[in-house]
Amino acid sequence: MTGYLFPNRSSAAAERFAAFTELFDPSTFAHIDALGLAPGWRCWEVGAGGTSVVQWLAGRVGPGGHVLATDIDVTWAGGAAAAEAGGAAAARDDADAGSQVEVRVHDAALDPPPEGEFDLVHARLVLVHVPEREKALANMVGAVRPGGWILVEDADPALQPLSVLDVRGPEGELANKLRSGFRELMAGRGVDLAYGRTLPRLLRQSGLLDVRADAAFPLAHPACARLERATIALIADQLTGNGIATEEEIERHLGNVAAGRLDLAQPPMIAAWGRRPS
Ligand SMILES: C[S@@+](CC[C@H](N)C(=O)[O-])C[C@H]1O[C@@H](n2cnc3c(N)ncnc32)[C@H](O)[C@@H]1O
Repeated sequence: MTGYLFPNRSSAAAERFAAFTELFDPSTFAHIDALGLAPGWRCWEVGAGGTSVVQWLAGRVGPGGHVLATDIDVTWAGGAAAAEAGGAAAARDDADAGSQVEVRVHDAALDPPPEGEFDLVHARLVLVHVPEREKALANMVGAVRPGGWILVEDADPALQPLSVLDVRGPEGELANKLRSGFRELMAGRGVDLAYGRTLPRLLRQSGLLDVRADAAFPLAHPACARLERATIALIADQLTGNGIATEEEIERHLGNVAAGRLDLAQPPMIAAWGRRPS
């Protein structure tokens, strides 16, 4: 089976997006600022998920700029209105975010890239989930204007596969067992668990210049616990259905997380960026 593991149309998906915001927005925003984001820029946010990056970009590019937010499921990318409507199924403007924001249902790999060229194309935690990620990346690179930038941020769970690094007993062991099962489910959906490390090479091979990369590694951040709870809630049925864990184990693990007894870690997030030749 392939396809995105997490249905966006649930409150747990929104909780995951909120945790990503806490864990990764500061670093994402610092990277984009360093690329020179300025009023008037045209940006494409690929696989937008929630609203935080889109809203931040919209504020920076101002009324003279444009932010296109795309996702295969725009339940949350469009804000509360779309969520109440059960997810908009068509392109539309998001009035709350300002008229410079356009939210569109779009598959980064299977749909033709949007018309026009962008000063910035950004995707975070998207390509790792897309089985046809090579095509998606080619679409994204092709949408950058000459001299413009692409920033791709993706996890590398194979580089650091553990949920708890400092295992001191059964609670840590159980956490790592569930994380291992989560990775198994992701791999079964076509997720490339070692994708993050390939990004600098892939950007260079795409003909981009000034390619650079770095990595962030969340550990014992309160949002790691929120992300864990939301993720387990979304995949609990699949963990039990595939014989990876019992309901009792899942309940026990969630109790351990809630009690704050675990210093939870996330996989490294590798950010790579490059510039299209002028
Ligand atoms: C892990 S979430 C990350 C969301 C957001 N980029 C962030 O960092 O908070 C992955 C997002 O990618 C979207 N997605 C998955 N496959 C996609 C595809 N083929 N094209 C566009 N978006 C996709 C999902 O619907 C989801 O919103």
